[in-house]
Amino acid sequence: MTKLRNFLFMGLFGAASVVNADECALEIEGNDQLQFSLSELSVSKSQCENVTLTLKHVGQLPAQSMGHNWVLTETANKDDVATAGIDAGLENNYVPQNDDRVLAATTVIGGGEETSVTFSTAALTTDGDYSYICSFPGHSAIMAGKLIVTE
Ligand code: CO
Repeated sequence: MTKLRNFLFMGLFGAASVVNADECALEIEGNDQLQFSLSELSVSKSQCENVTLTLKHVGQLPAQSMGHNWVLTETANKDDVATAGIDAGLENNYVPQNDDRVLAATTVIGGGEETSVTFSTAALTTDGDYSYICSFPGHSAIMAGKLIVTE
């Protein structure tokens, strides 16, 4: 009986570990209507040393006309990063290069495509104010959300 209990406990413990790993993998969609599927994402610093964000473009329009990316910045920098991203151009995925204000960024994708970025949570703080945007020209005012960082 004790052996069976231990076996069951190990089984539950193993399942819990898998759940924790999944929490370090975030997913969000963008569509042809200029929308992200979520206005808020959350990540735990203690459970996730690194986070992988996957962006799926569920629309059909090409990247040149309805491109989407996922760019993480402090909320205070979000508009400036979007403006700098326009200058950077599509060849740089509308992301200013070597810019400390960019905390993480994916490539720009079109309909039917997906992209991901893995970033460390080490520099993120629980009292920080973080936003993600699509920095494709004209999108960031609508395609934006908050990243909540928990302990
Ligand atoms: Co977009």
